Amino acid sequence: MKQLLSTATLLILAGIVHAAPKPARQQEILYLLHQDCGACHGIQLKGGLGPALNPKQLSHLTREQVAATILHGRPGTPMPPWLPFLKPDEAWWLAGRLKEGKTE
Ligand code: HEC
Repeated sequence: MKQLLSTATLLILAGIVHAAPKPARQQEILYLLHQDCGACHGIQLKGGLGPALNPKQLSHLTREQVAATILHGRPGTPMPPWLPFLKPDEAWWLAGRLKEGKTE
């Protein structure tokens, strides 16, 4: 797991500059968050099959770890990898929004 996280962190850092997605793409990502992530984490992100996705719940993880979890999922749990759908800098951006509670 540690190995996986550090690989993922390298992947994200390989982006070097964490460019924020363009506004239209930001809307798409927030839509995905509520529709797709919401299927497991609750439409209001208050938890369901997966834990709540809010600043309090995510305080035990760094932004890098949240981004890595999004990109690679949690093997052995229902949390799927989103790497096919989100670029590393998009996951980084989303992780920041989740940790700040700015999900609208
Ligand atoms: C098929 C169900 C499912 C979907 C869809 C899903 N998740 Fe998860 N997610 C989970 C489960 C279950 C866990 C808890 C895994 C564990 O036991 O460690 C989890 C864990 C997480 C965690 C770690 C939370 C913590 O406190 O450790 C984050 C962050 C996360 N998911 C974000 C997302 C995001 C963002 C999306 C959408 C892009 C998403 N998830 C989509 C089921 C899902």
